[in-house]
Amino acid sequence: DYRRTYVRDLFDMPPGTATSAYGWVKTRRDSKGISFVQISDGSCFKDFQVIVNEGVLSSDDLKLLTTGACVRFDGKIVESPAAGQAVEMQAEAVEVFGAADPQTYPLQKKGATMEYLREIAHLRARGNTFGAVFRVRNRAAFAIHKFFQTRGFHYVHTPIITASDAEGAGAMFQVTTAVETVEKAVEGGTEHQAAYRIRNANPKEDFFGKPSYLTVSGQLEAETLAMGMTNVYTFGPTFRAENSSTSRHAAEFWMVEPEMAFCDLEGDMNLAEEFLKEVVADLLDQCGDDLSFFNQRIEKELLETLQHVVSSPFERLTYTEAVKLLETSGESFEFPVHWGADLQSEHERWLTETKVGRPVILTDYPKEIKAFYMRANEDGKTVRAMDVLAPRIGEIMGGSQREERLDVLESRITEMGLPLEPYWWYLDLRRFGTAPHAGFGLGFERLLMYVTGMKNIRDVIPYHRTPGHAEF
Ligand code: 4AD
Ligand code: MG
Repeated sequence: DYRRTYVRDLFDMPPGTATSAYGWVKTRRDSKGISFVQISDGSCFKDFQVIVNEGVLSSDDLKLLTTGACVRFDGKIVESPAAGQAVEMQAEAVEVFGAADPQTYPLQKKGATMEYLREIAHLRARGNTFGAVFRVRNRAAFAIHKFFQTRGFHYVHTPIITASDAEGAGAMFQVTTAVETVEKAVEGGTEHQAAYRIRNANPKEDFFGKPSYLTVSGQLEAETLAMGMTNVYTFGPTFRAENSSTSRHAAEFWMVEPEMAFCDLEGDMNLAEEFLKEVVADLLDQCGDDLSFFNQRIEKELLETLQHVVSSPFERLTYTEAVKLLETSGESFEFPVHWGADLQSEHERWLTETKVGRPVILTDYPKEIKAFYMRANEDGKTVRAMDVLAPRIGEIMGGSQREERLDVLESRITEMGLPLEPYWWYLDLRRFGTAPHAGFGLGFERLLMYVTGMKNIRDVIPYHRTPGHAEF
């Protein structure tokens, strides 16, 4: 029966209730005639205490109740004399589904570093920190859907495999079949295995008939859907072959990309701000225990910061204004600032943390440092881009009003040295029934770093994909 009780529900049961508690043992403490077992099942931050009186369980069973063991206790809910919890369970019986040898169980009690926990990513969800991270991740995904669904946006699925470079930045992973040729398939193995591999191998060099890649963004396809369905959003995995090992870049990350017809840069910024505020407010409301834990253990003043995000307007500056502020800041940056250069994370941190103290939206970047699809401004130098920068994180969202004029877009693509051919369908949108439109992309893991205070992108996704790391 899957409709069993979660640990979360046990706290609300009236004393006297006969029930079962399923979970993994966090700790066991023995004192005279009594054992205290803390279990958790990931349903909430708190562990649940089960009391085992002497003689209730066989000594063989009791010995198996070590950290990491998976169990079910049957018993009665009783009032708890301990501080911080109203009820606990008096055990009457136990079933041990799986013991965990204390000599070899890798996730022992305290003090494990984040780096060590990454090496046991398959077990780390059992601990406080990662249970909390993944609960917040779950709720954030739900809050994102809620935000768009209540505003009439349609959730659309854009392809993972594509022939076009949505950002024109060349940071794509190419897709090939694992067994490329029949000859390769036949090499080695039994006859049976070879036959199987031949059936599954693609006899052609190239499965899709042209070079294909993992998508870097669903934006271009989302635009095609917005030019027919008005307001849409994607929420899916995206891939970047950026070979830089930083704490904010992953090779596989999730992106949320709304795209709106009849929207300009101003509307785009307004939606982005409303969106971030509403998602953060939802998490403050729904993930209180988890966020309090992060506030205590990971990032002090996290709760205050998040409340501030919800209640105060973001600062809005043009790129040109931001560069002026940086140039006159009196700071000695490692990378000097000048108009035309991309902002480095030290510059983003100074703007958001030192100067403003909350998220900042920068607009109207030089066209040379932005993607081909952004709408040109009248000055001939800048484009209608906007980046939302957050303290601690830097860029959390990037978006723009899109270039909806066919001739301008074509010359921009060519000017940037990109081929027109792969974008024929994208250009068709401008050829037939074009409309002003805008959108942005939120890096889901960057959002999670922001709301949890976790310092490394590797620690907000169950299995991170970063340079040199794809095992699990
Ligand atoms: O700024 P980016 O490259 O923008 C786009 O991809 C647009 N097509 C979005 C749009 O307008 N629909 O990426 C968007 C966001 C960034 O602001 C950042 O938060 C995140 O995606 N991001 C990454 N997150 C983790 N690892 C990486 N390597 C990332 N690259 C971008
Ligand atoms: Mg960007």
